[in-house]
Order: sequence, then structure tokens, then C-alpha cells
Amino acid sequence: MKTMTKSAAALPLNTIVAGDCIEAMNALPAESVDLIFADPPYNLQLRGDLHRPDNSKVDAVDDEWDQFASFKAYDDFTRAWLKAARRLLKPDGAIWVIGSYHNIFRVGAALQDQGFWILNDVVWRKSNPMPNFRGKRFTNAHETMIWAGKSENSKYTFNYEALKALNEGIQMRSDWVLPICTGHERLKDEAGDKAHPTQKPESLLHRILVGSTNPGDVILDPFFGTGTTGAVAKMLGRDFIGIEREEAYRKVAEKRISMVRKFDNEALQTTTSKRAEPRVPFGQLVERGMLRPGENLYSMNGRHKAKVRADGTLIGSDVKGSIHQVGAAYEKAPSCNGWTYWCYKKDGKNVPIDILRQQIRAEMAN
Ligand SMILES: C[S@@+](CC[C@H](N)C(=O)[O-])C[C@H]1O[C@@H](n2cnc3c(N)ncnc32)[C@H](O)[C@@H]1O
Repeated sequence: MKTMTKSAAALPLNTIVAGDCIEAMNALPAESVDLIFADPPYNLQLRGDLHRPDNSKVDAVDDEWDQFASFKAYDDFTRAWLKAARRLLKPDGAIWVIGSYHNIFRVGAALQDQGFWILNDVVWRKSNPMPNFRGKRFTNAHETMIWAGKSENSKYTFNYEALKALNEGIQMRSDWVLPICTGHERLKDEAGDKAHPTQKPESLLHRILVGSTNPGDVILDPFFGTGTTGAVAKMLGRDFIGIEREEAYRKVAEKRISMVRKFDNEALQTTTSKRAEPRVPFGQLVERGMLRPGENLYSMNGRHKAKVRADGTLIGSDVKGSIHQVGAAYEKAPSCNGWTYWCYKKDGKNVPIDILRQQIRAEMAN
């Protein structure tokens, strides 16, 4: 069962708070949120309608919520919501902010000025971008996401192995190629028009939440829109808090999230980092009689052997020390992972010593 701290108990978990995000955030308890995902107004500064070559009007973001009188007005708003957001983050919390060239540089400067520590900027390259209708500039084919820790010292969550597994075993890079939200995922209103002009794809939030949160974490989205963050958080067994000032969007989001099912617990287990697994000293194998003092270990390449001593060190020809030190000395290498270097003999067969470590770890997990 999840233990609720006093502040967590007061949180409106898995709900959409109506109203202005700055006021709503200021009403929540400090240091209560693990991650913030924010998709704030872009301040697109559109001058008049945009038309395609056939003169049809482009459905661009011209909503009232995206209008600011000046860059200064936008900066004041950005600094105010970031300040409120930072107060809510736990010390080891982190924030993602997505934006375009219109606003992301201003947001980046404000983040740094307020003490957030930028960890990466991730480029979301749209595999199916809208063309540049006027043909006067490059096709605007990406958005930028800034990922930042609450402070330089934050021990933020980064599920390196899970992200690598998502990417078929290759380290995840900071350029993500994903389609914009289209097809059945794109929510429509009664008239069949887009329910929201800037609905983000669930694939983007899936990667962010798998990579930088754990099941049970609390994720706040102060610009909730259609609730993409809430929908993906629910699927992934995370808690969310959404804030949205437009009633029409709140209704769309509520309906959407009510239809989402959480994945089962087994499906939510992701690949963990080896470093996150409990440390098992080699000596424990000896103490527990899994290996006996005097028994020989053999290198996996079959070239070397060394004898186990009662204190969990090895002694070989002209060398003694830990499983790592003796392996490194034999291979004349600066370092060696003894757990993958050595094996022992069982019924005449070579068995990696790491199998014994895994047995102990499995016991510890029960
Ligand atoms: C870029 S959209 C977010 C879209 C969302 N990520 C999605 O996938 O649907 C920004 C949203 O923030 C809302 N918004 C703008 N200013 C706000 C404010 N001060 N407080 C709360 N919501 C606000 C807008 O109504 C809009 O729905």
C-alpha cells in the first residue's frame, strides 16, 4: 500500500482543477509533486489568418489563451507560473517544458534564472509536420522540450535502462522522431472539428513518463488541455493533477481519461538499472557456503584460475585481491568486472558466479 504523507493526502490526485494555473498551484502543498510536464501557451504572435495555396484557411493556434500583449507580458507570465511550479516540486523533482522557437528560449532563460538545472533539451522531430504554406521559411518540423531538475543537486529520476530497452537496446538520444497527433487519437468536438488545437501525442508522454517517473509518482500538468498527460499517467500507474482554465477542454479531458484503463502491474515493470539493484559482496557467497574456501574459480575465457579464500578474496599465480582485481591483473586491464569474468565448476560444467549473486538478489526481493 502506498504511504501517504500529510502533504500528499491533501493533494487532489487524479483530478482536473478548474482555473488559472498560478492560483491553483499556489493553493497546493509545497514539495508534493515528483514531476511537472508543462505545455504552456506558445505566444505565436500570429498576424492575421494563415491560408493554404488553394486559399483555404489553416486551423492555426489563434485562441485567446495564446495571446500576450508583448514579450514582457509573456515573460512575466512565464516567470510567475515557473515560480509556483518550482515550489510544488519535491527537492529531487524535475520539470519538462515543451515549446517552439516562439517561446522556448524565453522559457529556458527563465528556468535557469529561477534555479532549475537544465539536464537536456530534447528535440521532438515530427515525422508528419504541417508544410510551410507560404514557402518563405523552412518547414517547422520540430518542437523543443527542456528537461530540468529542481536544482543542481536534485537526484532526479532517469530510467536509463528502460529507455534503452524502448529503443531496442540502443542508448536513447535527445532527438525523438514521433508523429503529431492524428487519426483516432485526435479528439473531435460534436461538429467533428479538432477538440483542441495543440493536442500532444500520447507517444511523447509515454516516453517522458517511462523515462523520468516511477509507478506511484505524482505528475502535475498546469496546462492540461485535452489531458494527454493524465491519460498516459493513468495507463502507466502514475497519479496526476491537471489544471485547465477552459471548461470545454476540461470536459474533453475528463471523458477521455475516464475511458483509459491502467496497464496491469506486471506490464508496468520496466528494465531497471544494474546500479539500482542491491549490492551483493562476493564474500557473501563464501559466508553462505555457495562457494567454499579452497575452491577454484576459472576465467570465462578458460585461460586462468584462482583459489577462493575464506575472506572472499582470490589468490592466483603471483596475484591476490578481489574478484575484480585478480581478473584485471590476469588480463593486464585497468579494470575488470569479476562477476562476469569468473565461473565455478558444477558437475563438470562452467557456471558463471553471477548466477549465485542473482539467487541472493531474488531472495532479497521476496
Ligand atoms: C498548449 S495547450 C496544452 C495542450 C495539452 N498538452 C494537450 O495535449 O491537450 C495549453 C493549454 O493551457 C491552457 N491555459 C492557458 N493559460 C492557462 C492558465 N493561466 N491557467 C490554466 N490553463 C491555462 C489553455 O486553455 C490550453 O488548453
